[in-house]
Amino acid sequence: MLNLGIIGCGAIGTDVAKAADKMKELNKIFLYDVDKNASGELNKILKKSEIKPVKEFLNDVDIVFEAASQKAVEEYAESILQKGIDIILMSVGSLLDTDFKNNLENTARKNKCKIYLPSGAVCGIDGVLSASIDEVYEVTLVTTKPPVSLGKKYERRTIVYSGDAREAVKKFPMNLNVAASLSIAGIGFDKTKVEIVADPVVNRISHKILAHGSFGRLRAEVENMPNPNNPKSSYMASLSAIATLKRIVNPIQIGA
Ligand SMILES: NC(=O)c1ccc[n+]([C@@H]2O[C@H](COP(=O)([O-])OP(=O)(O)OC[C@H]3O[C@@H](n4cnc5c(N)ncnc54)[C@H](O)[C@@H]3O)[C@@H](O)[C@H]2O)c1
Repeated sequence: MLNLGIIGCGAIGTDVAKAADKMKELNKIFLYDVDKNASGELNKILKKSEIKPVKEFLNDVDIVFEAASQKAVEEYAESILQKGIDIILMSVGSLLDTDFKNNLENTARKNKCKIYLPSGAVCGIDGVLSASIDEVYEVTLVTTKPPVSLGKKYERRTIVYSGDAREAVKKFPMNLNVAASLSIAGIGFDKTKVEIVADPVVNRISHKILAHGSFGRLRAEVENMPNPNNPKSSYMASLSAIATLKRIVNPIQIGA
């Protein structure tokens, strides 16, 4: 039986905690949020949970799930890995800084633990991972949004950004995690191309991955429903986080 620590009890943290509460492989769930109200409300609806500061629950957990913020990753990830505890990171954009990413990777290697990055709101990461074993010529992420989610009015389909992923995440931080996951799985932040499209015809955010390489061609597209508790998060992000947790506890590991 494993114990789980959760940092961030917002939309994704709540979905994961509710699923974890029902998993027979998990014994206790420790909750932490800077907003005491968020952890308090979540604690009320779970059976296996307890509220504790991160530093205190680190002595009791086998896995930590982060669904808080980039700042939380900067604050806690290193000390979690130093204790040999696996971590699942939702704020994947925190790994845009190459030195920070390399340091976490080295600490995890030294302490024989893992950093899990769920595919989040995007689909097709498994294909990009497999393809990257050999030569990948090009990877493009096309994110299409209703103009309202970009805070502007567009009368017709308009490409609002076209360039590399590194620049894209600076100009459109809302897209940070998706572009980061794809870049890390494939050919990196500088070679991955990103197109952000405003389209008045659509009313949902979609992400399309297009890749070419020695393997052939890949096209994967997801049209996302918003998370009922946070319209800025895709529901798929929560589902992928739960699937990652299940992957850790399940004997069968499917996917690249
Ligand atoms: N990988 C992906 O595809 C993907 C998709 C959606 C969201 N995300 C990321 O996941 C994270 C959580 O998303 P969400 O939709 O659940 O957000 P949310 O705003 O609903 O919840 C975040 C919670 O974390 C808490 N928090 C913030 N900083 C904290 C800190 N330093 N320590 C402890 N708690 C802290 C907040 O009080 C809040 O309750 C965000 O960083 C978001 O960018 C990733």
